[in-house]
Amino acid sequence: MNNNLFEDTDSILTEERIFTPTPEMVENANINAYMKSKGFDDYEAFYKWSLANRDEYWDDQAKELHWFEPWQKTFEWTDKPFFKWFVGGKFNIVYNCLDRHMETPVRNKVAFYWEADNGETRSMTYEQLYVETNRLAKGLQNLGLKKGDRVAIYMPAVLEQIIAVLAVARLGAVHTVVFGGFAANALRDRIIDAQAKMVITADGNHRGGKLIQLKNITDEAVAETPTIEKVVVYNREGLDVSMKEGRDIYWHDLLADIPADTVVPCEPMDSEDLLYILYTSGSTGKPKGVVHVHGGYAVGAYTTTKFVFDIKDNDIFWCTADVGWVTGHSYIIYGPLMTGVTSVLFEGTPAYPNPDRWWSVAERFKVTILYTSPTGIRGLMRFGEEWPAKHDLSHLRLLGSVGEPINPEAWMWYRHNIGHDELPIMDTWWQTETGSIMISPTIIQPLKPGSATRPLPTIAVDIVDRNSKSVGLGKGGFLVVRQPWPSQMRTIYNDPARYLTYWETLPDVYFAGDAATIDKDGFIRVQGRVDDVIKVSGHRLGSMEIESSLVSHPAVAEAAAIGKPDELKGEHVKVFVILKNGFEPSDEMAKELKLHVRTTVGALAVPEELEFTPSLPKTRSGKIMRRVIRARELGEPIGDTSTLDA
Ligand code: WT7
Repeated sequence: MNNNLFEDTDSILTEERIFTPTPEMVENANINAYMKSKGFDDYEAFYKWSLANRDEYWDDQAKELHWFEPWQKTFEWTDKPFFKWFVGGKFNIVYNCLDRHMETPVRNKVAFYWEADNGETRSMTYEQLYVETNRLAKGLQNLGLKKGDRVAIYMPAVLEQIIAVLAVARLGAVHTVVFGGFAANALRDRIIDAQAKMVITADGNHRGGKLIQLKNITDEAVAETPTIEKVVVYNREGLDVSMKEGRDIYWHDLLADIPADTVVPCEPMDSEDLLYILYTSGSTGKPKGVVHVHGGYAVGAYTTTKFVFDIKDNDIFWCTADVGWVTGHSYIIYGPLMTGVTSVLFEGTPAYPNPDRWWSVAERFKVTILYTSPTGIRGLMRFGEEWPAKHDLSHLRLLGSVGEPINPEAWMWYRHNIGHDELPIMDTWWQTETGSIMISPTIIQPLKPGSATRPLPTIAVDIVDRNSKSVGLGKGGFLVVRQPWPSQMRTIYNDPARYLTYWETLPDVYFAGDAATIDKDGFIRVQGRVDDVIKVSGHRLGSMEIESSLVSHPAVAEAAAIGKPDELKGEHVKVFVILKNGFEPSDEMAKELKLHVRTTVGALAVPEELEFTPSLPKTRSGKIMRRVIRARELGEPIGDTSTLDA
C-alpha cells in the first residue's frame, strides 16, 4: 500500500464553505418522511439509531419491494466474513423493475428517453420495456438459456442493452456486462472466467462520431473461448458483419415469431442467488469478478436511489455513466426502474459534436436530476461557462457526482453553472464491490465542496489506523466499513480467497482500498486509492493489467505502471519500460507500445507518458515497488524502504 497518503494526516484541507438546504427541500424529502416515521427530525440522531437498528431499517426498505415469498431472517453472519441477507426470501429484481408496475399508472410512463450519438431520439414506456424484455427472454429461452447460465453483454448504450440485461435476469441467468470500450482480450478473459454460454452484442455503433466494430471484436474474443454456444447480434448500424453459421443469430430473427403478448414469468430466485458478475480491476493482473445477488442488491439500489436522489413521481433522472460500469447497473437500470422514475439514456459523448451536448440533452429532456462524474465536469469546464449558459437548465433540482474525488473548484463550477447557484450536489462515494452508494449527503443535509459528507443510514463507515482503530475527528486514515450492508458483493467469482482479502487487510473490517480524512465537523473527504489501482477518468485500472499487457510485447522485458495526478482525468497512467536486449528506445517504439496497450486492454488504459529506463526499484524478493517509483516521480518522501533491494 502507498503509505504516504496515510501518514501525512496533519495536512487536512479545511473547507469552511458550507451550504445548507432550504426548509422546502427538507420538508419534501423522501428521507425526511422515513425519519419522521421513526420519530426523528435530525439526521445525525437518526443515523445513530440506524446503526443500532440496522435490520429494522433494511426490513422496512425491503418491504416496499415485491417478494414471491417473504424472508425468514433479515441478516445472517455465521460464516464470517461471508454473510446473507433476507434469508429464505424468494425474489426477482426484474419483477420489481417491470411486472410490478403493470398494475399501476407507471405502466404508461416513459421508462427511458434515449438519444443516439447522431441526435436521433426514441423513447420507451414501462409497458413497452416489459413487452420487449419478455420477448427477448423467450428468444433466449428458445436458444437454451436457463437459470444460472452466464451471459456476456457487450453492447452500446441503446435501449436493447437494457432489455438484454433485464431479459437475462428475468430468466434467472447471470449477466456480465462488458464495457463497449474494452478490447477483445478483455472481453475474452471475462467470458472465460465467467464460463459464459452466450454473448449478446451489436454489429457496432458510433460514439463521438467514431465507429466501434463490436461484432468484429466479439468474433476475435469468442474465437479463443471454449464455452460460447450462441452469439446474438443486435443490428444497430446495418454493418455488413460476418455471421457464423449455427452460432450467430440476429436479434430481430430471434424475435421474429415471438408475439407482443408473450409472457415469460420471472424466475423466482433465492435472495442470495446470483444476479450478475461485474469485472473490476484490483492489484493483480486478473480482473476480479464481483458477484451481486438478487435480494440484497435490489434493496440497496432501490433504497439509495429513493433517498439520495430523492426520486419523485414527475422526475426525469439522468445518470451519464455507461451501463458497463456499476454506476450504470445500479443507477441507470435497477435503482431507477424499481422506483418507477423516467430516465434518460445517452449513447454519445459529452462534447460531440459541441461542448454543450450534455447541457442540450438535459434541456431537451427537461432533466430534473443529473448524476455525473468529476471527470465529466472538469472536461466540460475547460470549454467555458458560455456553453451551459446557452441552455435552459431550470428543470434541474438535484445534482450528483461519482467515481473519484471531486475537487472543490469543480464542485463550485458545477453548482454555479449547472445548479444555478442553488442546487445541492450529492457527492456519492461507493464502489463496484459495495453495489450501491455508501457515503453521501441526502437532500436534507449540509454540504461542503469536495466532501462526500456522511455515511448513509446503517453504513458503519470509519476512518482508521492500521489496527482498525478510529483516528477520530480532524485526522486521516484508511476508509473502512465495520458491518455488512445488503448490496455488498457476496464473493469474487471463482476466487473466494480474493474476497477474503477485503476483510483481512485490516483487522475485522471491510477495507475499501481508499484513504480519507474526517474533519472536525465529521465531514468525510475521500482522498483516493492506497493500493495499485489507478483511477483514470473515474475508471479503475490495475497497474498489473497494464504491465502484463506491456510485457506481452516482444520488445519489453519489464514494466511498471503508476498513476499520476491529472487536472482533467484525476489520474493518468505513466509507465516505465525496460526493453529486452537488442531493442532500442525510440519515439516509434513508444508509439507501438501504447498502441499495444490499446489493442490488448482498451483505450482507457493507454499510458499518457512512457519512459524507457534501464532499471526499476524492487524488493529483495523481486517485486516492483510502484510506491517508490511514484514517490520519486512526484518528488514525495519515499517512506519505508527497508525491503528495497538497493
Ligand atoms: C473507487 C471505486 C462507484 C461507482 C463508480 C466507481 C473512487 C468513487 C468516489 C467519490 C472519491 C470516489 C474510490 C473508490 N470513488 N466515488 N465520490 N469520491 N472517490 O466504482 O470503479 O468500483 O471505483 O472509486 O477510489 O474506491 P469503482
